[in-house]
This record gives sequence, C-alpha cells and structure tokens, in this order.
Amino acid sequence: MIRKTFYFAIVLTGLLFMISCDNDTKKEEVKKEEKQEIKADVKKDDLSEETKSDYLKKGMFIAKSTGKSLKSRLTAAVDKAGLQNGINTCNKVAQKMMDSLSVVYNAKIKRTTLKLRNEKDKPDQDELAVLSEFSKMVSDSIKPKPQVKQLASGEVRFYAPIMVEKVCLNCHGKIGENVKPQNYDVIKKHYPNDEAINYKEGDLRGIWSVTFKK
Ligand code: HEC
Repeated sequence: MIRKTFYFAIVLTGLLFMISCDNDTKKEEVKKEEKQEIKADVKKDDLSEETKSDYLKKGMFIAKSTGKSLKSRLTAAVDKAGLQNGINTCNKVAQKMMDSLSVVYNAKIKRTTLKLRNEKDKPDQDELAVLSEFSKMVSDSIKPKPQVKQLASGEVRFYAPIMVEKVCLNCHGKIGENVKPQNYDVIKKHYPNDEAINYKEGDLRGIWSVTFKK
C-alpha cells in the first residue's frame, strides 16, 4: 500500500512537472512571437541614425548634382537661342537626363509636385504625403528640411524641397506678368494639361525623391 502510494506520488509529480513544463514552453513561444512582431514593426520605419545620415548625404549629393546638370543644360539652351529653345530642350532632355543619372547613381531619381507640368512626374502616395507636409510648412513660414524615410517595401527614400527662385518664374510664374504669352504657347504645345504656373518666389515648387536600389 505504501509502495503503491509512493509510485502514485512519483507518477503524479512527473505528470505535474510535464504539464507545467509544457505550459512554460508555450508561454515562451508566445513571448518569442510577440518579440518578433515588435522587432518587425521597429524594422519597418526605424533606420539607425548612422544609416539615415549616410543616406541623407548620398541623397543630397544626387539631388544637387542632378539639379546642377538640369540647370546648366537649360541655361546653355536659353543662352544659345532664347527661352523657347530652353523650353524645347527641357522637354527633350529632362526625363532622359534623370533616367540616365538614375543608372549612374543606382537610385530612382525623380522630381515631383502637387502642380504637374509633365504627367510622368506624378507623385505616388508616399510622395504626396511629403508634398502636403512640406507645403503646409512653407505656408507656415517654416523651411522644410531634407529627410530620409523607409518605404513599406523596405526601400529607403530621400526627399528634399525644391523652392521657386526668381529665374523659375520665366516658365512657372504668372502669364503676362512673368511668363510671356508667346512662351507659354510653346509650353502648352508640349504640355496641354500644364498646371505648373502662378508660382511666386519662395513657394514650394516640388520635391526631389530619390529611391535607393537595394
Ligand atoms: C525655360 C523654362 C523653364 C524654366 C526657366 C524652369 N522650368 Fe521647370 N520645367 C520646365 C519644363 C518644360 C518642365 C517639364 C520637363 C519635363 O518634361 O520633364 C519643367 C518641370 C519642372 C519640374 C518637374 C515637375 C513637373 O511639374 O513636371 C520641377 C520640379 C521644376 N520644373 C522646377 C523648376 C525650378 C525650381 C526652376 C527654377 C530654378 C525651373 N523649374 C525653371 C520649364 C522651365
């Protein structure tokens, strides 16, 4: 009898141990899953400060050099044969130049805006959010700063504001005031749905969007 109780006690302890042990592993598994979820969330939109500042530098460099290339090509065309030639050149070379520089820098380089001239520059949802944020800042007299964001796809993207300078008004200002009507005829010929006019100096014209290839 004593023996039987003894064996029973051993088996019972064993069983209890197994049950509790099993429970613990389950709990641990749940904890692990939770941890992974949290990690995944953090990974989505949290780049380390170091990585961000690296991409910020790269993005600034790409946007500046692309901007310089576009400007010097435009200035050369205007100097050679006037503003209408500049418009025609811009129409011919702007997209091509950005496509080839995208290859050079292994990043998709884009200029985009809330008021489109070339429909190919249409913003996507993420760009639209940044454009709205930046334009609100400009209307509150705050200068938007370049920034780096991680997209849902995991790709990293650089954004920087493009501001309107005096020289831009020749082709993006008020018709009859800054833009000569005969020049706007040439713009309309290339871009019948043009919206990119009526800007003033200091307005936000658009943004640079540079998406780094993985
Ligand atoms: C000679 C006329 C001319 C001048 C001056 C000019 N632009 Fe443009 N701009 C254009 C044309 C034409 C396009 C469309 C280019 C294309 O087809 O990709 C354009 C497109 C753009 C775009 C791309 C977004 C869109 O609407 O398609 C931005 C951004 C832009 N211009 C900013 C500027 C800024 C900033 C300046 C001044 C520093 C400037 N432009 C001066 C003619 C001009």
